[in-house]
Formats: sequence, structure tokens, C-alpha cells
Amino acid sequence: MNKIAAMGLAGVLAVASTAAMATKPEDAIDYRQGVFSAIKWHFGTMGAMVKGKMDYDAEDFARRAEIVAQLSQLPKEGFIEGSYSGDTDALPAIEENWDKFEGGMNMLAENTAKLAEVAASGDMDQIRPAFGEVGKTCKGCHDNFKD
Ligand code: HEC
Repeated sequence: MNKIAAMGLAGVLAVASTAAMATKPEDAIDYRQGVFSAIKWHFGTMGAMVKGKMDYDAEDFARRAEIVAQLSQLPKEGFIEGSYSGDTDALPAIEENWDKFEGGMNMLAENTAKLAEVAASGDMDQIRPAFGEVGKTCKGCHDNFKD
């Protein structure tokens, strides 16, 4: 690496670490709650379709499933040190059992990706169980880690 590139990289790293240090707990809380609200927005409509409370629109369902799969990768980084008190329902158990919590986040990402995959098929017989698995993943984590 030449000197100028090295200086550029050092600058990027300095900016990145400043951004990480500057993250306030209340911003992290807003961030993850906002992402979960967006997940719920789409997942709720998908649930209404799965339960037959709303007409099943395969294209719209698949679009939402794709969005939920993408969004599900986002909340994890919002669970930072010092963000388990204040205006939050996240329990300190998250910090104490980080591996388990992280496992739940990874499972969410995996199961929502599977749901997006079967949603593209438009086959409700496959979609229903995949949707149920995601729902269980939400509940499993909330039971342990959300007030
Ligand atoms: C691995 C853990 C985990 C999984 C999986 C999970 N959540 Fe959550 N969820 C949390 C935690 C922790 C909070 C509390 C966040 C806070 O208040 O800071 C939360 C909060 C929420 C909220 C409230 C947001 C707000 O505005 O306060 C909603 C809605 C929500 N989750 C929906 C879902 C849905 C729907 C799924 C599944 C598709 C899901 N969650 C999966 C851990 C999880």
C-alpha cells in the first residue's frame, strides 16, 4: 500500500471509530425500535393474508417477505452497551446472555430468508409453515429478552 492510500485508510478508520463511539444509547434504542416497527408493519399484513383475514396477493406478500428478510438483519447492531435502561423494553439479560440473543437474531435472519424464498413460489402450503416458524422466532426471543 502506498503512503497516500495508507493515510486514506487511516482516515476512514478514524471516522468509523468516531461514529461508533458517538452512538448514544438513546439513538441505538430508537434505531432498533424503528426497525422492529417496520418489521411488524409488513409482518402484520402478511399474517392477515396467511390467516385469511385479507385476500392473499402473492406478489405483495412476496415483496413484504423480501423486505422483512432484509430488515431482520438490521436490529442486532442497535443492541449496544449502555442501552438496556431508559425508554426501552430490552432486558439486561441480552448483555448477560449475548450468545443466546445473537443466536436468536441469526435465526430470525435465516427463517425470514426462508420465508422470502417460499413466498416467491406463491404456494400457501409452503408459506404457512414458514410464516409460523418466523412467528415462533419472534415470540421465543421476546419471551426471554423483551419486557
Ligand atoms: C433475537 C430477539 C428478537 C427477535 C427474534 C425479534 N425481536 Fe422484536 N424485539 C426484541 C427486543 C429486545 C425488543 C425491545 C427493543 C427495545 O425496546 O429497545 C423488541 C421489540 C419489538 C417491537 C416493539 C418496537 C417498539 O417500537 O418498541 C416489535 C413491534 C417487535 N419487536 C416485533 C418483532 C417481530 C414481528 C419479530 C419477528 C418477525 C421480532 N420482533 C423478532 C427482540 C427480538
